[in-house]
Amino acid sequence: MELVQMKELLKASLPVKRYEHSLAVCETAREFALAHDVDVAKAEISGLLHDCGREVSSRDNLDKAAELGIEVDKIERNQPILLHAKLGVYYAQKKYGITDKTILEGILYHTTGAPHMSKLAKVVYLADLLEPTRSFPGIEEMHELAKMDLEKAMFKAYAQTIRYLLEYDLLIHPSCIAGYNEIAIKYKKKKLAR
Ligand SMILES: [Fe+2]
Ligand SMILES: [Fe+2]
Repeated sequence: MELVQMKELLKASLPVKRYEHSLAVCETAREFALAHDVDVAKAEISGLLHDCGREVSSRDNLDKAAELGIEVDKIERNQPILLHAKLGVYYAQKKYGITDKTILEGILYHTTGAPHMSKLAKVVYLADLLEPTRSFPGIEEMHELAKMDLEKAMFKAYAQTIRYLLEYDLLIHPSCIAGYNEIAIKYKKKKLAR
């Protein structure tokens, strides 16, 4: 399926604001992919479709996951909004005809992050956080950092997400903590080696 067709389908299935966010993530993923020698076309598709699972309203996420036979972990059961990532992988395959594993991985990890993410998945994760319709203190600096150093930007992004989740008494998915720790351990070892 061509990107234009995907855009049409997505536009018809999401509220206007969510669709505009998806377009912005697609654009930003393109920008970051170019900076890091990542397949631009794949990054654009993964960015565009990252929230396609949002066509299910979050209050129906648990029922939908059960209906589709999607495995639900304890954290997702108690914070079903997280499931839009797994639902997104389902719709990307069934509705948008995506078979490419790296595109699907970008969608799967865009909410929690995870250790061992591909460069493309990092690009999508960061594009979701740093696209121009978002605003938070320090966003411009993080946007620049994401173009220079994907891993450093991921480290800051995890820290910011974890702080936010703590602030609002939300659950922290183990994949997020594992992703954060993976980079923290690397940095610690580098410091020790100095
Ligand atoms: Fe999302
Ligand atoms: Fe998003």
